[in-house]
Amino acid sequence: MQIRKITICGGGNGAHALAPIAAENLGCEVDIYAPFGDEAERLSAAITAHGGLETAGVVQVKAQPHLVSADPAAVIPGSDMVFLVLPAFAHESTLRQIAPYLDPGAWVGAMPTRGGFDYAAASVLAELGREDVGLFGLQTLPWACRISSYGQVVEVLGVKQIVDIAAKPSSQIEAIVGVLERMLGLSLGAVSNFLSLTLANTGQLIHPGIMYGHFARWEGTPYSAGEIPFFYHSLDAAGARTLAGLSDDIQTIRAALQPFIDVSAVHPLQTWLRRSYSGAIADDSSLRSSFVSNRAYTGIKAPMREIAPGEFVPDFHARYLSEDVPFGLAVSRAIAELADVATPVMAEVIAWANDKIGADLASADAATARTPQNYGLRDLEQVLDFTTEA
Ligand code: NAI
Repeated sequence: MQIRKITICGGGNGAHALAPIAAENLGCEVDIYAPFGDEAERLSAAITAHGGLETAGVVQVKAQPHLVSADPAAVIPGSDMVFLVLPAFAHESTLRQIAPYLDPGAWVGAMPTRGGFDYAAASVLAELGREDVGLFGLQTLPWACRISSYGQVVEVLGVKQIVDIAAKPSSQIEAIVGVLERMLGLSLGAVSNFLSLTLANTGQLIHPGIMYGHFARWEGTPYSAGEIPFFYHSLDAAGARTLAGLSDDIQTIRAALQPFIDVSAVHPLQTWLRRSYSGAIADDSSLRSSFVSNRAYTGIKAPMREIAPGEFVPDFHARYLSEDVPFGLAVSRAIAELADVATPVMAEVIAWANDKIGADLASADAATARTPQNYGLRDLEQVLDFTTEA
């Protein structure tokens, strides 16, 4: 597959990392589509002042994107591949903005997909008459990364050793894997369908599961700055049990679906941690120790809001719930309902999250959840047909 130009949609942590890494490794033109607020202007100014975008930490490169724009007409045409490096709630609106400008035969992918990306993306592309565009998606973002200076430096805290990828149609997956392995400098595991990525989305387990672990018994007393827990490294035994229960629920769904479709890439959470982070985990003897001794998670605090000087409360509207439930757990639970599978720990965590963020995510038909039901796939047979169609 010949790549002359790629465009990255987004101006957040992941986009800051991908742009210089892709430019360095592929040596092609890299443009950035950043229509959110005044991001394009701020990014351009900061990149110019710094002489490029730079990654620090465990990956160190510096490269200059070719063009940053808030206008899809300026950056999307001519792109062989377009990457949505965005929170999942921005996928559909961004795809609508860029679809008219995509070249026939271009590939659009999400990094990461989260749950149900294929349902939403196929629906938007069909509605806009762009079925000539292919889809791909990565199961997770390859890096744990945080911007340290906007438009200039992003700190890469950890790199996954292997990331799974799916494509639709799947016939060109090997060519896409070849390009992306070169571009990212890591191994990719080709999986046969997007349903595997939806179920294997570990963010849906880790983020709501740890939020539940830290805060389900919180009674409203504000934290001082020094009391704010580390998100991963403060995981306790009860939190680890919730994570194990969520992972078991996913494995129950996988086992129910496996006779009908290959979902063997949906690994238990601890297997995924060992596979993704083996070099960064000091003690992988238990699920809890795999989190608290994982170097890639160092220093990351639980999301908090400051309600008065020095007084903090959990931020239940942070993406750990507002993205990972409607674009994660609620999608998997909707699939479990279609497969007639009980998922008791998911039900408990979704009900709690629902109460905290005040949206009805417990129902498969909830307007905000990216469930198959919301894209017209009303039974398991329809989901399997959609998933396996060429
Ligand atoms: P981020 O929070 O840094 O991205 C924010 C960017 O998304 C904004 O700068 C803007 O460009 C765009 N955006 C936000 N709201 C928008 C809206 N309403 N409409 C259009 N665009 C909007 O996110 P980050 O960290 O780059 O993550 C991207 C995805 O990767 C998320 O799904 C995240 O959960 C996932 N992820 C991130 C990891 C990390 O270490 N940063 C690790 C693993 C997964």
